[in-house]
Amino acid sequence: MESNSHIEQRAARNVIKLQCAPLDKVRIGFVGLGVRAKRAVERMMHIEGAEVVAICDLVEANIEEAQHIITSNGNAPADTFCDSEGWMRVCEHKNVDLVYICTDWLSHAKISLYAMECGKHAATEVPAATSIEECHRLVETAERTRRHCIMLENCCYDEFELTLLRMAQEGVLGEIIHGEGSYLHDLRERIQSNDDGGRKWANWQVDFMKKHNGNPYPTHGLGPVALAMGIHRGDRMKSLVSLSSKRISSGALVGNMNSSIITTEKGHTILVQHCISLPHPYSRSFVLSGTKGYAQKYPVPIMALDPEGDRAITNDELTALLARYTHPFVEQYKPIGEPLCGRRWIDYAMDSRLIYCLRKGLPLDMDVYDAAEWSCLVELTEKSAAMGGAPVEIPDFTNGCWQQQEGHSFAL
Ligand SMILES: NC(=O)c1ccc[n+]([C@@H]2O[C@H](COP(=O)([O-])OP(=O)(O)OC[C@H]3O[C@@H](n4cnc5c(N)ncnc54)[C@H](O)[C@@H]3O)[C@@H](O)[C@H]2O)c1
Repeated sequence: MESNSHIEQRAARNVIKLQCAPLDKVRIGFVGLGVRAKRAVERMMHIEGAEVVAICDLVEANIEEAQHIITSNGNAPADTFCDSEGWMRVCEHKNVDLVYICTDWLSHAKISLYAMECGKHAATEVPAATSIEECHRLVETAERTRRHCIMLENCCYDEFELTLLRMAQEGVLGEIIHGEGSYLHDLRERIQSNDDGGRKWANWQVDFMKKHNGNPYPTHGLGPVALAMGIHRGDRMKSLVSLSSKRISSGALVGNMNSSIITTEKGHTILVQHCISLPHPYSRSFVLSGTKGYAQKYPVPIMALDPEGDRAITNDELTALLARYTHPFVEQYKPIGEPLCGRRWIDYAMDSRLIYCLRKGLPLDMDVYDAAEWSCLVELTEKSAAMGGAPVEIPDFTNGCWQQQEGHSFAL
């Protein structure tokens, strides 16, 4: 238990809206070069001011493929590391400004922590951590080292989510009382075979899920909802209850469906669900339910607005409404990102924003508190579910600073 004076000291050096010295070029070191990372390396080839200078993986073929992407785009080869300590060499590398982490879930926090200790900014794939202790350590280390630690939650950059963020902030939905976010994705075949686009390493996802029975992957669903509901920007997640359905003992995937309800300080609620082992059309839910209106993205986009709150507005009306509130980032990044990466243009938007903000010395779109708050559900959902859905407290990772801002904003 921290003393009050210690909490006050921590609050005084919080990294909300952290600004660091602008970087002329952002020199990137990649840790993990699997399916996800190679796409990121490719994207960086098309982002002004980004340079990939060091890469490492445990599989030689992944290094060769990533190096090929770099050199075939006319760049100097990156320094390569292919052993169990290569990730440390990347973090220590004198030319690296940003460590971009695309490894398995269990190693994200360890690498982010060491990157920050080495004076580097850390950008990590989701989730940023798998335990409460790691979440606390990420926050404490970012505050002490004054380094950015961003979780690469690409779903926050999807078109509907960005547009609804704008609509929510302009008051179209009124006060948002309830939100829903999920990861419902029938991955049975892809996960069991560990061939999710050409994975070459261990089946770390199934290994993790065999041992845990909560929500191991909460951030795609929760992230965009948390931004729209102003989490640690005027409100904060206070506690949750969680239940997991029965396990299928014969299968490698366990805990078919996990459902959790979060309560916020303002008395709002957020439902977060996870299931990758049942037939289900892909869904991240993305529901915002406010005093003046309702919006959902999946399975089909629907909105209802006062004064006809009980009527789903027609397709034509919806198209016109979404066009009217289109987020500027959609207009800025989709026309370039879509021809390069198809539906993954949202990743291009995310990386472009990251490099832009680092080059300008601006606060990043999401901070270490987002990373900790969204990732802490990995442990807390399991803990609550193990107690039959008993409430568990969600730590205030901001040490009381969650009211410093009112609503999310992008630095421009
Ligand atoms: N945001 C998204 O939409 C999205 C989509 C897919 C995957 N992901 C995330 O990206 C991450 C990677 O997923 P993937 O599909 O690329 O998996 P993958 O298995 O293809 O890649 C992981 C790589 O990390 C390497 N690795 C593990 N430990 C390492 C270490 N200590 N040092 C160096 N290399 C190490 C492995 O060799 C492997 O090549 C996961 O966290 C996953 O959840 C996110």
